Amino acid sequence: MSSVVAVKPVVPVKPLVPVKDEWKVGALLTKADYEAWYERSVEDPDGFWREHGQRLDWIKPYTKVKNTSFAPGAVSIQWFEDGTLNLSANCLDRHLADKGDQTAIIWEGDDPQDSRRISYRELHEDVCRMANVLKDLGVARGDRVSIYMPMIPEAAVAMLACARIGAIHSVVFGGFSPDALGGRMEGSATKLLITADEGLRAGRKVPLKANADKAMEIAAKAGHAVEAMLVIRRTGAEVAMREGRDHWWHSLRETVSPDCPPEEMSAEDPLFILYTSGSTGKPKGVLHTTGGYLVWASLTHQYVFDYRPGEVFWCTADVGWVTGHSYSVYGPLANGGTTLMFEGVPNYPDAGRMWQVVDKHQVNIFYTAPTAIRALMGAGDAFVAKSSRRSIRLLGSVGEPINPEAWNWYYHVVGEERCAIVDTWWQTETGGILISPLPAVTDLKPGSATTPFFGVQPQLVDNEGTVLEGATEGNLCITDSWPGQMRTVYGDHERFEQTYFSTYPGKYFTGDGARRDADGYWWITGRVDDVINVSGHRMGTAEVESALVSHPKVSEAAVVGYPHDVKGQGIYCYVTLMEGQEPSDELKKELVAHVRNEIGPIASPDKIQFSPGLPKTRSGKIMRRILRKIAEDDFGALGDTSTLADPGVVEDLVDNRQNRK
Ligand code: WT7
Repeated sequence: MSSVVAVKPVVPVKPLVPVKDEWKVGALLTKADYEAWYERSVEDPDGFWREHGQRLDWIKPYTKVKNTSFAPGAVSIQWFEDGTLNLSANCLDRHLADKGDQTAIIWEGDDPQDSRRISYRELHEDVCRMANVLKDLGVARGDRVSIYMPMIPEAAVAMLACARIGAIHSVVFGGFSPDALGGRMEGSATKLLITADEGLRAGRKVPLKANADKAMEIAAKAGHAVEAMLVIRRTGAEVAMREGRDHWWHSLRETVSPDCPPEEMSAEDPLFILYTSGSTGKPKGVLHTTGGYLVWASLTHQYVFDYRPGEVFWCTADVGWVTGHSYSVYGPLANGGTTLMFEGVPNYPDAGRMWQVVDKHQVNIFYTAPTAIRALMGAGDAFVAKSSRRSIRLLGSVGEPINPEAWNWYYHVVGEERCAIVDTWWQTETGGILISPLPAVTDLKPGSATTPFFGVQPQLVDNEGTVLEGATEGNLCITDSWPGQMRTVYGDHERFEQTYFSTYPGKYFTGDGARRDADGYWWITGRVDDVINVSGHRMGTAEVESALVSHPKVSEAAVVGYPHDVKGQGIYCYVTLMEGQEPSDELKKELVAHVRNEIGPIASPDKIQFSPGLPKTRSGKIMRRILRKIAEDDFGALGDTSTLADPGVVEDLVDNRQNRK
């Protein structure tokens, strides 16, 4: 056991924005409720979750609740393990009796003229039909289905159809390249791929079907043949369909029954895989299961957003990310809510689009990422002022630390000081929100994610694993399991243990740094590993490096993050060329295009610095600490360079960097 070390100097407490009386009107929980519930959730997790698991409709009720261990070599996480249920029945069927005609999904297209409202009854029918189509195409319980789609309602239909028949979905963001999709389909041994003819973003077409065709080939070359493809017609573009392999959804839809009995699943049956970047190697397939995940997604959606029946909830995340899974689809639908899905981008046709959509559909809760807030802030207040936004009751932020300047703009300009802001900290791995204010409960501090949700026990440790107490800063761990936690890395439980439970044995290590202030508020300071956060999207520096070195002219590459005004972090690449290759602006463009091609546009390098050598230790390890400092222009603080194999390399890098400015 680690001992407790001395308290560091107190972090100055930023100005507080106390809970306003208006925020308490009609709220689900008071401050006293939160305190009592939180205490019970950590003192008596079994009792607490036995009660809250009841929010779902179970086919066979659970008798067991929590069965989890973070013990080295024996990490095992199970919740409600002997209960059975169907997730799609919880998101659809159980609402039909009293909410059949209520809108489940409001869809707003890329074109401001384009929108649709889909009722629970209509959504239920579509999901049943797609489930039947999947079965007809040979998909069975436990099979993996990849989903590569634009933000159209059929993306949610596809996810729910998989859940209905017990197939495991793996949604791959539509902005990823054929290589990335192919790799993920091979990794998950996908049976069938669901895609669309094309996507539409800011008036530009995205060739999804053509990308999917290439990805099928890439997966096949890597040793895995995907059997079939189901294609949704979105733009009506002419696309190549391979006889016997590719099928149109709109044709098959008419051939099947509108009923499909939900498959009875165990709480611990896998629901989905979602690939996410880590500090090493290829992206990991984060695996979430059925019961605990849905309890978590729905409970956090209800209480963090204080969601009330009839309200319109808009989470701007794409379904390709976990935020889209938990808060565009599963959380709101499990709660019988109305969720808005937006196909477009924040600045098309202009930077007032988000607020026009808010007014058009009378959005009550608006949940987005700091990078979007900063970009819209940069476009000027006039775009905001053109809208009313009176319908908004609550604002949310997710994906990266929100800088106080963006927080203030969001609070004062967008919300006109009428709305609380919930700054929600969580990860793909956590399934849903872990640290966040509750709107009627928590006094806000701009930039702080504030306090843990029920059942969440955060802890700070130093690099040796010693537990830190009081107001201080350290590495953020969670000491015990919560129902929404990932269960394993798909097909590689050892990697799961290694990645999350071996750095500080017995604890889940988040990969984030954090500080806790004198009031016990949590401030996430960002990743402490080699993961960077670009516009709220997670990127492994190792992935970008391996894309760069796969270019024939590159001999070696090192990638680090650096502060970027809009993106949060930008991608800075140090590139060593092959013998005989000359650095040029032309070559930089070629390398940027190459990385986009290998991974996708979100991985576009922002800066490339050609470097004849990289700073390495004598054992050959690249000293990223130094590279990060140089990328940040922080030349005075390079630290100890005496352990370098060739200290001259650093001088060259600094000279180069300075000459280029
Ligand atoms: C990483 C997880 C959670 C869904 C979106 C991203 C960072 C996320 C916050 C926040 C500070 C945040 C962390 C985390 N992060 N939310 N409110 N404040 N940092 O999911 O792609 O799995 O990334 O995003 O660094 O580890 P993800």
